[in-house]
Amino acid sequence: MRYKIALLEGDGIGPAVIDEGIKVLNAIEHKFGYRFEYEKALIGGCAYDDCGKPLPESTISIAKDADAVYLGAVGDWKYDSLPAEVRPEKALLGIRKALNLFANLRPAIVFDELLEASTLKPEVIKDVDIMIVRELTGDVYFGQPKGIEVINGERAGFNNMIYYEKEVERIAHVAFQTAMKRNKKLCSVDKANVLDASRLWREVVTGVSERYPEVELTHMYVDNAAMQLIRNPKQFDVIVTGNIFGDILSDEASMLPGSLGMLPSASLSNNEKGLYEPIHGSAPDLKGKNIVNPIATILSAAMMMRYSFGKNDAASSIENAVKSVLKKGYRTPDIHFGNTQVVGTTQMGDLIAQEILISN
Ligand code: IPM
Ligand code: MG
Repeated sequence: MRYKIALLEGDGIGPAVIDEGIKVLNAIEHKFGYRFEYEKALIGGCAYDDCGKPLPESTISIAKDADAVYLGAVGDWKYDSLPAEVRPEKALLGIRKALNLFANLRPAIVFDELLEASTLKPEVIKDVDIMIVRELTGDVYFGQPKGIEVINGERAGFNNMIYYEKEVERIAHVAFQTAMKRNKKLCSVDKANVLDASRLWREVVTGVSERYPEVELTHMYVDNAAMQLIRNPKQFDVIVTGNIFGDILSDEASMLPGSLGMLPSASLSNNEKGLYEPIHGSAPDLKGKNIVNPIATILSAAMMMRYSFGKNDAASSIENAVKSVLKKGYRTPDIHFGNTQVVGTTQMGDLIAQEILISN
């Protein structure tokens, strides 16, 4: 089996963490006999420096042509003063839209080995395993009209929170199907007590639930959900929500496991095409220091194996290797405490790749 992977390393620590992901994919090739072919393309600030655009057409076509996209991170302070249209973040929104990646899967899993790394009490977070399904191509992020204009003699900024039925329906299906493969509990998060967009969201999700009678569906307002995630995160299995609420709640949930450096993500369309990236950003201040945690990127490769290539054996092999290496006591500085052994980015990648090769 041959798969084409578009490599969009991006800015800051992006290239460094992708390097470790490739090491792990090399081990997977070796172990399972799959073949991965890579094609690199520029995205974010490095693309802007190269051609004046954060998301060049050539990058979109390489991404479209590949079976999956593996992305590092985009952004650097040096682009902070650029106009919004050419800022690196714009490239992320652009590629999501161009590839129709409407379903964003963000797991927040607390590993037993890392209970101490969280700022929350161990008894609150032990065994937490949540999957956030965030709608990614609609909502106030993309709604029209939007802009800054003079209205009644003063400037006003506005965006439009809008959800079409079909958009809600398709993300609801992804969420119910995700729940079916897990503990069959789905919590839909909205603000239906205030927002019309949310009232429609709730109606449509409820309608879709009739097709999944085995899944227990609950609804929660977003403010309450933000509170419940910290108060008692174990009550959640799968959460489905819109783009902006999902953006906020997924950052909040990422602090349950304690380090952003541990959390992968997948952004999927209707076909099997997907984009896989760590949820952390480009951390330009950490670049070149060999200290960042590559595990989020490595676990993103596991999600690629599972969701785009249907290779559960390879996905589990990567996830188990990560757990074994943590169990043996190796830690990057972000997750180090007590008498664990601190290793750098490249050593962590080596250890995980090695573990894949030696395990059966
Ligand atoms: C994320 C990020 C992006 C978002 C930004 C960088 C555009 O926060 O992936 O969560 O808001 O979606
Ligand atoms: Mg975000």
